[in-house]
Amino acid sequence: MSALPGSAEGTAVTGLDSSPVEPAAPDLPPLTAQTEAEAREVMARYPQPRSALLPMLHLVQSVQGYVSPEGVGFCARLLGLTKAEVGAVATFYTMYKRHPTGRHLVSVCTNTLCAVLGGQRIYDAVSADLGVGHDQTTADGAVTLEHAECLAACDYAPVVTVDYEFYDQQDVDSARELVAALRRGEKPPPTRGAPLTDFRGISRQLAGFSQRADLAAERAAIDAPSAGEPTLVGVRLAAERGEVAPPMRHPEPEVAPEPDVEPAGGRGETDSEQAADTAVASADTPAERAGAAQHHPDAPEPAGRQPAERGGEGTDTPAGHSQAVAGDARERDA
Ligand code: FES
Repeated sequence: MSALPGSAEGTAVTGLDSSPVEPAAPDLPPLTAQTEAEAREVMARYPQPRSALLPMLHLVQSVQGYVSPEGVGFCARLLGLTKAEVGAVATFYTMYKRHPTGRHLVSVCTNTLCAVLGGQRIYDAVSADLGVGHDQTTADGAVTLEHAECLAACDYAPVVTVDYEFYDQQDVDSARELVAALRRGEKPPPTRGAPLTDFRGISRQLAGFSQRADLAAERAAIDAPSAGEPTLVGVRLAAERGEVAPPMRHPEPEVAPEPDVEPAGGRGETDSEQAADTAVASADTPAERAGAAQHHPDAPEPAGRQPAERGGEGTDTPAGHSQAVAGDARERDA
């Protein structure tokens, strides 16, 4: 029989995760009338109330530090869902925690690129310092440690996040010092982005509420620099080389029958060739012009790929494809 967060069995089994659910601590802050008022504010943002479930789960975490049994029931009651439905969502996403989380959540990326550059060594060293493993919290309640899948910052590998703020290009020593500072109650500034808060604070932000003292502080956090040099290198090189993303392709127009007589002033070009000429001629920058020229029907094939020759061997045309095309042509000609 399945048991969900909030069940008496104390074990959640959803088919996705069977880790134990911790019973609610006696000193767990309650979900108050204020929490419910804020939850209703979240619900009002969506045409369908149930769409508010994800931010509401963050709201629960901002009060209680995890998705508690009470939190599951709270969301289910307000949204008209079953506890099973809420539990299925809460146990699917790793950002919803099933045990009370420490003041800070430290996530060490041990996915491929970070691991190659030392992510696993960082995780092992921090784990040894803290005396806890994955998804465990230090006895002083300061830090919950987890190893994480790719944190979408591979250009800054190896990466550690604290409460989802980035600490880029870490090594064993810098990560150990970072965690030690957190345990001393300090909040080292992230490499980029908003200032560090704590797990409950960032959960409140993820629910869509500010935790800053005033609008100016809120604005400063939002406007904090979020792009760093490794990301910008690629952008700069592309600009220097005139590389651009391919333009959007529009559906090919209906092919008109070949005219018997070349139109006056024309060069015998098809509609798509004329459109490509126009795109090249109207490009505003050399980069845009280069991109449009690359996609001109008359552009040479890129090096390493030769156009398939009719009836020839060694092309990349799938077997049978050229026959089908020839068959189509015969049908048209008949
Ligand atoms: S592999 Fe670590 S951020 Fe992508």
